[in-house]
Amino acid sequence: MRILAIDTSCDETSVAVTDGRKVLSNVIYSQVLLHKKWGGVVPSIAKRAHEERIDFVIEETFRKVGNKNLCSLHKIDAIAVTQGPGLAMALEVGIKKAKELAQKHHKKLIAVNHLEGHIYSAFVENSKGNPKHEFKFPYLALIVSGGHTEFVIFRDHLRYEIIGATLDDAAGEALDKAAKLLGLGYPGGSVLERLATQVDNIDEYNFPRPMLKSGDLNFSFSGLKTSFYYFLKGQDGKKAKISEVKLEQNRVRTSEVRLLASSFQEAVFDTLIKKTEMAIKLTTINQLIVVGGVTANLRLRKLMRNLAKKYQGKVLFPTYKYLSGDNAAMIGVVAGYKADKKLFVEDIDKLDRIPRWSL
Ligand code: KG4
Ligand code: ZN
Repeated sequence: MRILAIDTSCDETSVAVTDGRKVLSNVIYSQVLLHKKWGGVVPSIAKRAHEERIDFVIEETFRKVGNKNLCSLHKIDAIAVTQGPGLAMALEVGIKKAKELAQKHHKKLIAVNHLEGHIYSAFVENSKGNPKHEFKFPYLALIVSGGHTEFVIFRDHLRYEIIGATLDDAAGEALDKAAKLLGLGYPGGSVLERLATQVDNIDEYNFPRPMLKSGDLNFSFSGLKTSFYYFLKGQDGKKAKISEVKLEQNRVRTSEVRLLASSFQEAVFDTLIKKTEMAIKLTTINQLIVVGGVTANLRLRKLMRNLAKKYQGKVLFPTYKYLSGDNAAMIGVVAGYKADKKLFVEDIDKLDRIPRWSL
C-alpha cells in the first residue's frame, strides 16, 4: 500500500511517500526561523506558512522518490493526514489539502493521530527496509515532545492505553522555557543539550524533581520552571544567580549559564528516568519505546539505555534522526496499518481537525 502522508500539526510542513514501513521519500519544511523572534509558535503565522508551502513540499516529496515510476499521485493508493492533536489552524491546512487531493484523484483517505505517528517512528524503515525491528508487543512507550509527555502501553497494532501524562507543561516545553529564561532563544532543547556537554558537574544546582512522590505516572513540569525562575531571580533572600538584565542581554555563554542549563536538563531527565523506572516496575514491561522531539537528545538516550539494561530490557528510539521531530513519514507508516484494517475515512467532506485528541 503506497501512501502519500501529510502532517501540518505544528510548525513543520511535512509530506512523505511510504510503502508499509518503508519511507520512499520524506520532506520537512521547518518554520522555526519564522517563529524564533516571537519566542514560540504563532498559530496564524504557522497557518499562512503551511498554506504557502504545502504544494511545493508535495512536489518536492514526489521529486525525491527514488523510483521514477512512483513519482505521481496516480501510483499512490491512499492519502493520509494528521487529524490531531496539534494547533487547530495548522492542522486545518493539511486536512484541507488531503481532502482536495483525495477527492480530485479518487483516493481513499486515512486520518491519523499524531501521537500514534510518534510511537510508530520507532519502527520506520528506510527505502531499503532497514533497520528491521520486529514487533514484540507489549511495549512501554514514552512520548516526549514539545507538546506531550505521556506513558502509553502499546499493546498491539493501533491499540494503546495511556497510563500517565503531564498535568501541565510537557518536558520539551519546560526545556524551551528554561532556555528562554537563560536568554538562549527558541526552541531551546538542543541549545541546553550543547551547553550541558561543556560542564564538569552536570548537576551543580540539583533542582527539584517534580512529582516523584505522587505515587502515579503523571508529570508536572511547570513548578520546576517556576522554581528555576525564582532561583534565577534570587527570591527568598538568596542571592540572584543572574540578574534579569543580564539574562535579557546574555549573549555570552558564561560558565554559570552552562551550569544552569545542564542542571535544569538533568532535573527534567532524571524525573523522566525515575518515572520510567516506576512504570517498568508497575507494568513489568521492560521493552521501551522513547519517541518525540526531545529524543534527539543524546544524554536522554544514554540514560534510557542504561535504565533498560538495568531491567534486562531494550529501548527503541526513532530509527533515524529526522524521525524524532515532527514528520509525515511516521504518519504514513501508521496509515499503512490502518489501511490493513480498512480504517478509511467514511465521509471525506465531514473530516475535521481534532486539536485535542487523546490516543
Ligand atoms: O516532537 P517535536 O518536534 O514537536 C512537538 O510535537 O512538540 O518536539 C519539539 C521539542 C521542543 O521542545 C524542542 O526543544 C525539543 O523537542 N528538542 C530537544 C532537542 N531537540 C529538540 N530537547 C532536548 N534536546 C534536543 N537535542
Ligand atoms: Zn510531534
